[in-house]
Amino acid sequence: VLLLSKDSAPRSASRWAQGGIAAVTRPEDSFASHIADTLEAGAGLCDPPAVELLVREAPACVERLLQLGMDFDRHAGQLSTTLEAAHSHRRVLHAQDRTGGALVDALEKRVLQRPGLLRLQGALALRLWIDGGRCRGLQVLHNGALRWVAARAVVLATGGGGHLFANTTNPSQASGDGIAMAWGAGATIRDLEFVQFHPTVLSAPGAARFLLSEALRGEGARLVNAEGDAFMTRYEPAGDLASRDLVARAIVREVERTGKPVYLSVVHLDPAFVRSRFPTIVAACAEAGLDLTREAVPVSPAAHYVMGGVETDLDGRTSVPGLFAAGEVACTGVHGANRLASNSLLEGLVFGARAAEAMAGAVRTATLWDSETRAFDGPVANHDPLPTANDVRDVMWRAVGLVRDRAGLTRAVDQLTRWSGALRGAQVLEYGDPGVRRLHSIVTVGLRIARAALYREESRGGHYRSDFPSRDDARWQRHVADVTHVSG
Ligand code: SIN
Repeated sequence: VLLLSKDSAPRSASRWAQGGIAAVTRPEDSFASHIADTLEAGAGLCDPPAVELLVREAPACVERLLQLGMDFDRHAGQLSTTLEAAHSHRRVLHAQDRTGGALVDALEKRVLQRPGLLRLQGALALRLWIDGGRCRGLQVLHNGALRWVAARAVVLATGGGGHLFANTTNPSQASGDGIAMAWGAGATIRDLEFVQFHPTVLSAPGAARFLLSEALRGEGARLVNAEGDAFMTRYEPAGDLASRDLVARAIVREVERTGKPVYLSVVHLDPAFVRSRFPTIVAACAEAGLDLTREAVPVSPAAHYVMGGVETDLDGRTSVPGLFAAGEVACTGVHGANRLASNSLLEGLVFGARAAEAMAGAVRTATLWDSETRAFDGPVANHDPLPTANDVRDVMWRAVGLVRDRAGLTRAVDQLTRWSGALRGAQVLEYGDPGVRRLHSIVTVGLRIARAALYREESRGGHYRSDFPSRDDARWQRHVADVTHVSG
C-alpha cells in the first residue's frame, strides 16, 4: 500500500474539523430521526439507501474508534453529545473543539503501524493513469522525478475545494485536486453546484480567518448585530440553529440592512464552561486580541464543504474501474444539496471503510503493470500569461459564492474558460510545479462548479440563485452530472 500526500505538514480539513461526529447513541434518539434530518437538510437530492447506510453504520464506527483509543468527551461516564443545526436530537459526539484532530491522530497512529505500508510525503499526484478504460495507477512528482506508479487500485482521499474561494474554513491543501484528476480521467462528477458556506467564521480585521464551530450555537451562542440585537428569528423560525445556508444568507442580509458586521456572542454562558469545552476557539480568538468569554466576536460566512464530487457507489467505486474515492472528494449521495452538520467525518469513516473492503477485493484480480521513472526536465517555457490562484478565488467568491445569478455566473464561466485554455496551452501537467498544479485544479473544478450553478435555474440547499430564488422540484429534483471522455 502506497500512501501519498502532497504536503509534509500534517494538515487537512478532517484534522481541522471542530464540531464532531453525528451518531445515534442515546435511547431517546433513533435511526429514523437521524435519517429524516439528513434527508431534510439534503433538500430532496440525497440518495436514501446511502443515507440509511450512513446512519445505521455510525454507532459501530464510534465503537471501533473507542477501541482504537479515541478520546471522546464524557459526562458522568456516558459519551457527551451536543446539538448542531438541523439535528432534532443531541447526537453529535465530540472531543472538545478538536474532534477531527483527535480522530486523525487515532487513525494515523494505527495505520502507520501496519506492515507493508509505504508513505510518501511531499509527493504531488499529477494525473491518473488510464488505459483500456481502467485506472492503472497515477503519475507522481516526488524528489524531482516524475514516476508513473502502477497500482491495482487507486483511492482518491484528497478532500474538497474550499480554497477555490477567497474566503474559506479549509486548509490550503483543499484545492480540488482529486476532483480535477478524476474529471481528467473521464470519471463522472456530480452535484458540484452545491457548496456549503459556513455562517460563522471569525472575521476580525487583520486576524486569520478561523472557524467558530456550530457547536457553539448548539451550546447556546447567539448571533447578534452591532446593536446587540439577536436577529436570527427575524429571518428564520429555527433562529440560530437554522440550517447553515439559511443562517449564512440571513447574516448577509443583516449586514446589508445595517451596513455593519454581525457578531457571535457567548457572554451569557459560564466562562469556565466555554474555556473547557472550546479551548481551541478561545485561543484563536485570543490570538486575534478578543476574549470570547467576555465580548461578542465578529463573524462572516466562508466556503466550508463541497457536497458534490466524484460519483461513487456505496462501496466507493467511481465510474472508472480501478478508481475509488472516499471522503469529501466523493459524491456518495448522502449529502444531497446540503450536508447536515457533523455528517462529514462520519461519511469518511463509513464509506472509507467500505471503499477499503471493495479495493481489497478488486486487487485480487487486477494485473499490476510496470512502473516507470524518468527524471523531471523542468518546466516547459513560453506559455500564455496565467492568472494567480487569488485572481480565480476572487471570481469564485464574488460570482459563484453564497448568492449567484445568471449575469455573474456567465461572466465567471467565460473567464474560467479563458483561464482553462491558457493552462491547457501551458501543458501544466508536465510542469510538476506545485503552484501551477494547484492553479490547474482550482480553475478546472471552479469552471465545473460555475457551469453547474449556471445550469441549475432554481435555489436548493447550498445553491442559491437570486434570479431563481425558489426551489423547483418539477424541473430540478435531479442531479447534474459532468463527464468528459478521455483515452490514454
Ligand atoms: C463545525 O464545527 O461547525 C463544523 C462541523 C461540520 O462541518 O459538520
